[in-house]
Amino acid sequence: MSIIERATSRMHQDAAARQGHAQQHADDAVAAALAPNVVAPAPSPSDSPSRGLPPSASPAAVLRSRGNGKNIELDAVRMQAMGFITAGTRTPLMEEVRVIKRPLITRAFSAKHRSDKPANLIMITSSLPGEGKTFCAINLAMSIAMELDHTVLLVDADVARPSVLRTLGLPGQRGLMELLLDEHADMSELLLHTNIDGLTLLPAGAANARATELLASQAMANLLQEMAGRYPDRIIIFDSPPLLLTTEAHVLAAHMGQIVVVVEAEKTSQHAVQESLRQLEGLHNVNLVYNKTREFPGTAAYDYQYNYSYHNNGQS
Ligand SMILES: Nc1ncnc2c1ncn2[C@@H]1O[C@H](COP(=O)(O)OP(=O)(O)OP(=O)(O)O)[C@@H](O)[C@H]1O
Ligand SMILES: [Mg+2]
Repeated sequence: MSIIERATSRMHQDAAARQGHAQQHADDAVAAALAPNVVAPAPSPSDSPSRGLPPSASPAAVLRSRGNGKNIELDAVRMQAMGFITAGTRTPLMEEVRVIKRPLITRAFSAKHRSDKPANLIMITSSLPGEGKTFCAINLAMSIAMELDHTVLLVDADVARPSVLRTLGLPGQRGLMELLLDEHADMSELLLHTNIDGLTLLPAGAANARATELLASQAMANLLQEMAGRYPDRIIIFDSPPLLLTTEAHVLAAHMGQIVVVVEAEKTSQHAVQESLRQLEGLHNVNLVYNKTREFPGTAAYDYQYNYSYHNNGQS
């Protein structure tokens, strides 16, 4: 059985196990089995509300111009209602995202995992639309931004169908595409600084028929180099298009130090996962996140969940 088959069949075994076991502790055991290199960390004091979104933020996301970039206020109540992580709440999802983020952060700054691509550039992708890329990217960004030691730049790299701003209740803005089109454009002027201290957004910008070529261009390589190197403690998360339907995703993946492939429980087929992993062959640090798994109905914990598994192509 190949590594890919083992990874996917383990996920299917996990799904089957879930159907018959409602207890939380059983799921924890499965999650641990899926991710032998992940140790579920103890709750971290650094995820304190002090770095997070104030629970009483204003009722609508608001944009305000400032010298360098714009300030935006995210609506915590709206985000909570949509199932996103916010400060001041402790939910099972928060713990699951913490399990996912730990190894990503570790690899981002570890000399041991250094490859030719900066490991603090992290792409969130999936095989097909709707599997939870944007949901996962925003939650990861929120969770990492609540760390005291790291800041996050969340880039909407789904340039054909941008959804980070829309999901957060904001209108579209100039962003990545304009930076790639205009060599004089200044990234700092296009950044959206949120009311979460460690979290900044870069919108996708206007749709462009040449998006794939732009993402493959030297301008993109230079921009990523600048993003990755400007702040030593910064993680850059790219909410990306689906791998099996777009050429953009494939081009983006080639620039990334780490890749997270979201797999939707009971929906993404084994064939789709295998095909996605095949497309990523030769790239470093490819991870699988098993999303939208459900607890057995009738239990208090009946909810969407993440599980995490690390698939290494043997390149690092
Ligand atoms: N773990 C989860 N818990 C609850 N809701 C989720 C979860 N993951 C995804 N969703 C919901 O599923 C829907 C699709 O998710 P999302 O928009 O993140 O998918 P996507 O992969 O980014 O889709 P697209 O390819 O169209 O951009 C959204 O309504 C989102 O809120
Ligand atoms: Mg999306």
